[in-house]
Formats: sequence, C-alpha cells, structure tokens
Amino acid sequence: MSKKTLVEAKVNGETVEFLCEPRQSLLESLRDILELTGAKEGCLTGDCGACSVMVDGRVVDSCLMLGVEAQGCSITTVEGLATTGTLHSLQRKFLEHASLQCGICTPGFLMAAKGLLDRNPEPNEADVRYALAGNLCRCTGYDKIVKAVLDAAADLRSHGDGKAAAAR
Ligand code: FES
Ligand code: FES
Repeated sequence: MSKKTLVEAKVNGETVEFLCEPRQSLLESLRDILELTGAKEGCLTGDCGACSVMVDGRVVDSCLMLGVEAQGCSITTVEGLATTGTLHSLQRKFLEHASLQCGICTPGFLMAAKGLLDRNPEPNEADVRYALAGNLCRCTGYDKIVKAVLDAAADLRSHGDGKAAAAR
C-alpha cells in the first residue's frame, strides 16, 4: 500500500482535510473519501464530463486530476450548488425543462453550465452548446439541456441566485 498524503482543500465552502494515495484521482477522493457522490464516474478518460467539478473557478474533469493536486484549492461540486436547501436556478430549470432522465450526466452538465454562467451571464445558444461540448448525455438529448441553461441565465439575470428565488 502506498503512503498516503494529507491534503487540505476548501470543498463547497468548507475547509476539509483528507488522506489520499498519490495515485487516487480527485474524483475518487471526492466520492470514496469525502463521500460526495454527486460527481459521477463515466469514462475515466476525460471524454464524458460526468465527473466535472469546479476547481478555483474553472471546470475540471475530476477523473483527470489527482487528489493530491487539490492541496490548497477551492472546489465546488454539484452538492455545493444549492444554497441553504434552495435549488440553484440551473437545477430548477433542468427540472422544469425535463433536462434529465437517468441523471448520470446531470451533475457534470450543471457544473459546466455554472462555469459558463459565472464568466458569461448572457450566453447565446452557440455559447451554451460550446461550453457543454465536453459533456455527453446518452438519454435526454441536448436541446432540453441547452434551453434550461438559457432559461437559467435569464432567471439569474432577473433574480440573482437561489437565495433571491427562495424569497420570491
Ligand atoms: S468520468 Fe471524467 S470525463 Fe468521463
Ligand atoms: S440523462 Fe442519462 S446520460 Fe444524460
């Protein structure tokens, strides 16, 4: 058994420490050590986007990053999208537009969309399709997902994040 390394990172706003082996991916660290199972395991080769999380504000395939590389990083997983029990606008719009079936791809799409809307609050359809190009869905098709992201962008521009929605 290889020696484990102590990693300290901020995950969904909370400082956490965990021990991981040098070979373990960030995806494994999140799912198997920190028990955050929102990020999904699909291809493990960086092709499907099911494992997408945000690391220091950038969308990352967590299957391609080592857990030890998370030292000092700020990580947001799909578990960190909702605030105080209120779904993020993206989550609500995915439900309203029926943008998921089995849901395996959904956390990855949500994080990729969050990354887009954080840097571009007024995306057009091409922007959304480009930002989601690294995420694959085998069930739903992409039109409903794209519509949900565009609708969420409009909602966020009008009302802000989930806290504002909760107050409505
Ligand atoms: S599981 Fe990471 S990209 Fe597919
Ligand atoms: S909803 Fe099943 S893979 Fe996308």
